[in-house]
Amino acid sequence: MQQPPSSAPAYPPVHDRPVRWGLLAAGGIAHALAEAIAAVDGGEVVAVAARDGGRARSFAEEYGIPRSYGGYEELMQDPEVDVVYISSTHPFHRDQALACIAAGKHVLVEKPTTLTVRDTEEVFEAARAAGVLAVEAMWMRFQPVVLDVLDRVRAGEVGDVRSFHAAFPVPFAYDETHRLFDLANGGGALLDLGIYPVTLAHLLVGHPTHLHVLGSTVPTGADALVALQWMTEGGAVVQVLTDSRSHGTTETVVRGTEGSITLHGPINNPTSFTLRRGEDEERVEGDRRGYQHQVEEVHRCLREGLLESPLAPHADTVAIMTILESARRELGVRYPQEDAPLHT
Ligand SMILES: NC(=O)c1ccc[n+]([C@@H]2O[C@H](COP(=O)([O-])OP(=O)(O)OC[C@H]3O[C@@H](n4cnc5c(N)ncnc54)[C@H](OP(=O)(O)O)[C@@H]3O)[C@@H](O)[C@H]2O)c1
Repeated sequence: MQQPPSSAPAYPPVHDRPVRWGLLAAGGIAHALAEAIAAVDGGEVVAVAARDGGRARSFAEEYGIPRSYGGYEELMQDPEVDVVYISSTHPFHRDQALACIAAGKHVLVEKPTTLTVRDTEEVFEAARAAGVLAVEAMWMRFQPVVLDVLDRVRAGEVGDVRSFHAAFPVPFAYDETHRLFDLANGGGALLDLGIYPVTLAHLLVGHPTHLHVLGSTVPTGADALVALQWMTEGGAVVQVLTDSRSHGTTETVVRGTEGSITLHGPINNPTSFTLRRGEDEERVEGDRRGYQHQVEEVHRCLREGLLESPLAPHADTVAIMTILESARRELGVRYPQEDAPLHT
């Protein structure tokens, strides 16, 4: 991680006042963030921008946000905005993040940070060079229940990790214009859903030395059903499945030589976990505060003058993108925005 020396932060840490958020885009997930910011201390939304000024205005009225803009440029130039939450669909993240960074704004960018490894590296490099915070909005990583599991795995409570299993199916009705299936709008299960189990496996078990992929696409060419299997340097095996078309549970299991941990509930917002060692069983409940932890982490980073969150380092986000990109290439899925041919 590249951090400025603690005595010389790259920017003046935000002290003695709330962090001022600007929301770029006013779609589905922007509502969840507006609610999360309102629910925690330390920040406030001061402006929202959408392509359509009327929609931005209604969003602002709904959440009591003082300013709304019909277009993103004014938001980026708003001197009272500290951090921009970018929640457009993924093909637009790169250019919008780079523009926000160039305007001196910190950024929280929805997952996936961009469509490709190269673009993700470019955004993080630009942010570090500009001395601003950049974080992928991988909200799962900031939840205490997930951090507790990570601590226990790292402390050896399950012994040496041997395997990890997770499935994240979410049944969307097939509609070629929906963003999950429209390649031009970042369609594909891997980048939207698969990113969660891949991130958790990477966090708890490690990066692949070998990666195997099976899967299929829908008629638009977007990946829908994907199974990934990899081996880590430590000899553990990861098996992960995602599907944008099927129902099913999302239980996640980490198995080791001394015990196992099962995470219950949706992988991106686990309700609880159970640690089993021999006959002993411990159940730990999560707090279900969801997106609020992510908001609090951004506030903490800005109070401490950090360029990246230690809970979601840039290098991890890039490494996870390399797994997703390798899998996508195996399946022959290519976004029209990509200029380089696949299978090079
Ligand atoms: N963290 C989570 O739990 C979570 C959940 C869902 C989605 N996400 C992520 O959040 C992002 C947005 O998802 P969403 O469900 O909120 O999507 P959405 O409602 O379909 O779209 C979000 C916004 O993106 C812009 N947009 C959509 N289609 C566009 C197009 N064709 N051209 C230009 N701009 C377009 C619009 O901005 P304007 O408002 O300015 O028009 C729209 O409001 C995705 O990257 C997704 O992976 C995260």
